[in-house]
Amino acid sequence: MLEQSDIEFEERIVSREPIESDGDDFDYSLRPKALNEYIGQDKVKENLGIYIKAALNRNESLDHVLLYGPPGLGKTTLASIIAHEMGVNIRTTAGPAIEKPGDLVALITNLNEGDVLFIDEIHRLSRAIEEVLYPAMEDFKLDIIIGKGPSARSFSMNLNRFTLVGATTRAGQLTAPLRDRFGIVQRLELYTPEQLCDIILRSAVILGIACDKSGAMEIAGRSRGTPRIANRLLRRARDFAEVMGGGKITKEIASIALDRMEIDKLGLDSLDKRLLEMLIKGYNGGPAGLETLAAAIGEEAVTLEDVCEPFLMQLGFLARTPRGRCVTALAYRHLGYEPPSVEGQTSLFS
Ligand code: ADE
Repeated sequence: MLEQSDIEFEERIVSREPIESDGDDFDYSLRPKALNEYIGQDKVKENLGIYIKAALNRNESLDHVLLYGPPGLGKTTLASIIAHEMGVNIRTTAGPAIEKPGDLVALITNLNEGDVLFIDEIHRLSRAIEEVLYPAMEDFKLDIIIGKGPSARSFSMNLNRFTLVGATTRAGQLTAPLRDRFGIVQRLELYTPEQLCDIILRSAVILGIACDKSGAMEIAGRSRGTPRIANRLLRRARDFAEVMGGGKITKEIASIALDRMEIDKLGLDSLDKRLLEMLIKGYNGGPAGLETLAAAIGEEAVTLEDVCEPFLMQLGFLARTPRGRCVTALAYRHLGYEPPSVEGQTSLFS
């Protein structure tokens, strides 16, 4: 329950603009606004389309939505699309920005009927904040205690109905009570090169960049399944095209640009390569624990886990085993090494 002292209606911590930690404010104009403009994530799109239509038909707010998956796949974009399709406003914040229960109270008491409250990095909410969220999500009310000791009295405050859209890169870190209060849970997958190619061509039109299909495909194939990366590489390839080429992104120009940025043919960057090389040279291919590996290459374990590993595992370059991380024969060969034949790891190195 909330203590009255928790409720200070201080400065608003919400904004209609993407939050800074999102890291891609510059991408705002590229974000699709409606579901039918959104490329990829077909299952998520179809399901959300049905839930939204059903809620609109019943004149209800949409049930709470949890979106999870690696960074840069469009969780923030989907939250905005949900609000747009439902015809409501969206308020955006992030788990670490909500420090006190009063911060959350200020946010949810300012929502209009049906509005979307988007909380990015929702796994980083404190327990005290989660406690406030439970009755708000379930019954659209806040439980407030006024006073202290024997004279304390509690009362309940009704809220407008709202849709909480939570986003996280690590669904496993959500507490069970919070996870269970989301009626809609959707996992976002890495995009295929063809989907990324379509996204790049769409972005090129919006930004007025000349880019042919083979140029877009070259960028797409090296964007590690992630639209945020694809759009960033598109802008950098434009710089190379304008200074070194005829202004148009072709396959050749894109290839030169990406090689200069040290992004290899499969999209591995220097961090991926450091991780794999450390496993190969320092740990004979593994297994090595995540923390050990992170310390050895001087990176945060969460960065390796959230950013590098999903892509390396999709490529079949890395395996998570109960004893730690191991590289596969594919990774050895891609980096130009001969895979060892280690007993007990034949399935990885064959
Ligand atoms: N820009 C970034 N992500 C996108 C997506 N999934 N569809 C269309 N444009 C995008």
